[in-house]
Amino acid sequence: MAERREVVRVRNIVKDFRPGFGLRRKRVLHGVTFDVHEGEIFGFVGPNGAGKTTTLKILMGLIRPTEGKASILDRDVGESEFRNQIGFLPENPYFYPFLTAREILDFYARLSGVASQRRASRVDELLGIVNLSHAADARLRTFSKGMLQRVGVAQALVNDPQIVFLDEPMSGLDPIGRKEIRDVILSLRGEGKTVFMNTHILSDVEMICDRVAIIVKGRIRQQGSIDEILPDSTHSTDVVVAQLPVDVATRLESDPGIEMRGLGERVEMRVSAKRVGEVLQAAIEAGAQVISVTPHRHSLEEVFLSAVREEEGAR
Ligand SMILES: Nc1ncnc2c1ncn2[C@@H]1O[C@H](COP(=O)(O)OP(=O)(O)OP(=O)(O)O)[C@@H](O)[C@H]1O
Ligand SMILES: [Mg+2]
Repeated sequence: MAERREVVRVRNIVKDFRPGFGLRRKRVLHGVTFDVHEGEIFGFVGPNGAGKTTTLKILMGLIRPTEGKASILDRDVGESEFRNQIGFLPENPYFYPFLTAREILDFYARLSGVASQRRASRVDELLGIVNLSHAADARLRTFSKGMLQRVGVAQALVNDPQIVFLDEPMSGLDPIGRKEIRDVILSLRGEGKTVFMNTHILSDVEMICDRVAIIVKGRIRQQGSIDEILPDSTHSTDVVVAQLPVDVATRLESDPGIEMRGLGERVEMRVSAKRVGEVLQAAIEAGAQVISVTPHRHSLEEVFLSAVREEEGAR
């Protein structure tokens, strides 16, 4: 695939906060650098307090970096020319509970200058995109968390932005609510939009993100496509066999290159990819039945936890 255009560029961002008058400054971002490519779903992943929201606030021009540069669509984030091309869902959005979904979206459409004759149809479109047409005229106080979060996403899409920035769009949602948000995000990518999302829900990231950056304590520990970040499946393979005779099982178990689990009817062996043939052959010759052979892929969770541990070890 050809290199995509970089629509968000973050270079060596440092951010210091002064917790209070006379108190020592606290560095929360230590030279953060990453890119977001056009048309992708980018996951900005990190534990609580890592600096995700701070980075996003800098991108939104809400706070200034202490050092470093950030640009969106080739414009410095301090400028305002590109603002009509982006949408933003903050971390804890608040919506006036006595308004209906239609009323609140109409309000945001007015704020972002959607012409009055276009407004009603735009609001209908937005309700459709986030799958809330059925609840358009219900007051927000009757909405579930998942429905409210979808109102938030719809609000971020009012001006049909090229890039949408979402701060923790799935947090606090049940599996169904998360799936609904994932589906909306995937449909945005389908329309060619770029989605930037902060999150710590790794299964969602693995399911929908094209590229990720992992931030821990204000430092980027890893970044790249999911395939680049998750160590390759060629490293090891899980072989599951049944009816493996005890003598063969014992011999294989004593082999330092084989990690064996679950003795009894079924045995699972994790072996390096290049030894799979040899292990299968030994099992088959001994009369065992091969149940499955699965290349092992590290989960994002394993990679994430090791990045967090490394950072803790380094401090
Ligand atoms: N205005 C502020 N003044 C002082 N410290 C701040 C301020 N805003 C954030 N911080 C600190 O900066 C660090 C990063 O916070 P940030 O909100 O960016 O983390 P996060 O990755 O978004 O976490 P979460 O997953 O909990 O949302 C935290 O230690 C936080 O306490
Ligand atoms: Mg946050």
